[in-house]
Amino acid sequence: MPQVLEFSDVVVRRDSRNIVDHVDWTVADDQRWVILGPNGAGKTTVLQLAATLLHATSGSVTILDQVLGRSDVFELRPRIGFASSALERRIPADEPVIDVVLTAAFSVLGRWKEEYERIDEKRARRVLAEWKLEHLAERMFGTLSDGERKRVQIARAVMTDPELLLLDEPTSSLDLGAREELLGLLGGYAQEPTTPAMIMVTHHVEEIPIGFTHVLLLRDGQVVAKGPLGETLTAPNLSATFGAEIMLSADAGRYAARARTGS
Ligand SMILES: Nc1ncnc2c1ncn2[C@@H]1O[C@H](COP(=O)(O)OP(=O)(O)OP(=O)(O)O)[C@@H](O)[C@H]1O
Ligand SMILES: [Mg+2]
Repeated sequence: MPQVLEFSDVVVRRDSRNIVDHVDWTVADDQRWVILGPNGAGKTTVLQLAATLLHATSGSVTILDQVLGRSDVFELRPRIGFASSALERRIPADEPVIDVVLTAAFSVLGRWKEEYERIDEKRARRVLAEWKLEHLAERMFGTLSDGERKRVQIARAVMTDPELLLLDEPTSSLDLGAREELLGLLGGYAQEPTTPAMIMVTHHVEEIPIGFTHVLLLRDGQVVAKGPLGETLTAPNLSATFGAEIMLSADAGRYAARARTGS
C-alpha cells in the first residue's frame, strides 16, 4: 500500500524539551488515523509536521514521497488539506462562505484564470452540498454557528482534492447534535474509497467517526501505542496515555470511555 506519510525518529525540541520525542510512524493512503492524547501531548505539533508547517529538529519526515527539508513545500502544500481552529481564526468574518471554500482553489492555481472560475465555483458548490452547507453559501462566515464553521473549514480543506487530509479537533466545542451530525458526515466521507488518507486529532474516543481505521496514542511527545483501532484502542493503552485507569466500551463502531471509580 503506498505511503503518504513517514516519520522516522522525529524529534521537535522547544525550550530544551522534546515536545515530539523520537516518533516513528507510517500512514498508508487507505488509512484513516485518529491521534489521541491529553493536553500538551504533542498532537497539534505532529499535525503541523504533517502539514509541512513545521520542521523537525532531528529525524526525517516524508510526505507524499517528498522528504521535508529537501523539497519545495509550496508544491507540497496544495496536496495536503488542513483544518484547525487556528486557521479558522484567520478567516475574515465578512467573507461569504462560498469564497472561503473557493479561495482554497485559488491558492493552488496561484493566479486567477477566467476559465477556472466557473469550474471552481461548481466544485465549491458541490463540496458545500456534500458537507450540508449549500444553504449557507452566500452567508458571511462570521454569522455561522460553531458547527457550521467547522464544516466550512473541512469543505475548504477538501476543495483542492488533497491526497492527505489533516483535521485538528474538528468536533471540539460542538453540542451533542452538531457533533453527531459532523461525525456522521466525517464517517460517511471516511468510508468512501475515493477519500484520501485522513489524520484527525481528538481528545475523546467518543469523537472517533465510524470508518476510521488506526490510532496513534501520544503522551509527552512519545508514542504510547499505534496501529489498527481494534487492537490498539484498549483500556490499558488509554490508561497509559491519559495517566488514569480508564474503562472503554465499543458499540456499533463507536467508542465510549470513562475513568474507573471506586472498586
Ligand atoms: N513554540 C513552542 N515553544 C515552546 N513550547 C511549545 C511550543 N509549541 C508547543 N509547545 C509545547 O509543546 C507541547 C505540545 O503542544 P501541542 O500543541 O502539540 O499539544 P496538543 O497535544 O495539541 O495539546 P492540546 O490537546 O491542548 O491541543 C505543549 O506543552 C506546548 O506548550
Ligand atoms: Mg492541540
